[in-house]
Amino acid sequence: MRVAVVGAGRVGTVTAAIMARLGHDVVLTESDPGKTADLRAGHPPFFEPGLQDLLGEVQGAGKLSVSDSLAEAVSGAEVAFVCVGTPPGDEGDADLEAFERCVRQICEAADGPLVIAEKSTVPAGTSARVQGLLSGVAAAADLDIVSNPEFLREGTAIEDGLRPERILVGAESARAFDVMRRLYQPFADAGVPIIETDAHTAELSKHAVNAFLAMKVSFINAVARVAEAVGADVRDVSRVMETDSRVGKGMLSAGIGFGGSCFHKDLTAFYHLASDAGYDFPLLLETVRLNDQSVETIEAWIVEALMDPEGERVALLGLAFKPGTDDVRHAPALDLAKRLIARGLQVTGYDPEAGPEASREVPGLETAVDPYEAASGASCIVLCTEWPEFAGLDLERLAAVVAHRTFIDARNLMDPEAVRAAGFEYRGVGHSH
Ligand code: UGA
Repeated sequence: MRVAVVGAGRVGTVTAAIMARLGHDVVLTESDPGKTADLRAGHPPFFEPGLQDLLGEVQGAGKLSVSDSLAEAVSGAEVAFVCVGTPPGDEGDADLEAFERCVRQICEAADGPLVIAEKSTVPAGTSARVQGLLSGVAAAADLDIVSNPEFLREGTAIEDGLRPERILVGAESARAFDVMRRLYQPFADAGVPIIETDAHTAELSKHAVNAFLAMKVSFINAVARVAEAVGADVRDVSRVMETDSRVGKGMLSAGIGFGGSCFHKDLTAFYHLASDAGYDFPLLLETVRLNDQSVETIEAWIVEALMDPEGERVALLGLAFKPGTDDVRHAPALDLAKRLIARGLQVTGYDPEAGPEASREVPGLETAVDPYEAASGASCIVLCTEWPEFAGLDLERLAAVVAHRTFIDARNLMDPEAVRAAGFEYRGVGHSH
């Protein structure tokens, strides 16, 4: 099947590679000529494990090409994925300008029956609204808008994309369902459930899933505060919760809170969507508040550990919002860095992938080439992102370069005994072990 993917961001590039791997003939298009040139040369415009190899494989097999022309990409396609950004608007609701412009351009370029599939996260009702906008377009009778939300996680996007837990398709016509069934037939053959709903329901489901996952993280971070107060261990509480299949596994590791482009944006957009529909949903805002509190807690621990913090140096290990990515959008480490810099502290960060992005984002943040350089002269080390390589840190070497031996493990990654054995005062989240 011929497939167009519009927007070579994190979702679009991965979607294009996965569709090509399923055997479809994919054209990826993007308005930034720098990105298309990089992609043609086989270089993804961001770091995602396994993506470069997969792009090389599908480009080499002639299944994926890159075009600067949206019209060229859409011509002859049966499905066009819209993967452009839907950033928060001034009020926190989703800004759909780029999304709608893109849909209009796709419609104008369509030269045959076409299913336009929303991959970007959009408020429930968007596909119906967009279908309304199309009524003036000549080819509208042959165009269907479907909601096909993405559930990929950064850092494991290729794995998630090749082995999805389910595919969700929200559509309004038998023809659109038929096209999407053919598109995803290889997954259906492999036993992946394909859930079919109306478009509103698919859009709302994506909001509900992301909000619920974010709520789990905020919930366990709130439990961590209680565990600290009563002398319990939140890591064991998580283990107990996860063995209950009704709670479900994952998103129950206490730490410095969630980051990334999706959870914050989706929680506020979902809140606005609900309020516009006449329902007040304060749980969503509380989830964000508890997340802010997670960073504030770590900030307070640093201040407490340093006693006279001004001018002291703090080393942040990990700057990306999670391991396996160079993405620093809403990264808790950067929120913490800004707060510490505002208090007059010196902050040096190290991240295996996100250093350049982080220093562009936070003026005054120094970045180091390795954890030991970052820790040099620091009075407090804070582990903010659980990159696996940090678990193997040479703690003796770290202890030798710091000014004062305090280690705050804001992701509960380290073995507390090993950190203490190297002479550090250790503090983890939600436990006193
Ligand atoms: C999230 C969802 O998990 C995906 O299903 C969805 O497709 C994506 O948003 C999206 O809408 O684009 P992602 O943001 O890439 O994916 O990463 P997650 O693994 O969900 O982690 C989000 C944040 O929560 C990270 O900062 C992570 O460190 C934090 N987290 C996660 C915790 O603090 N504790 C946990 O137990 C799990």
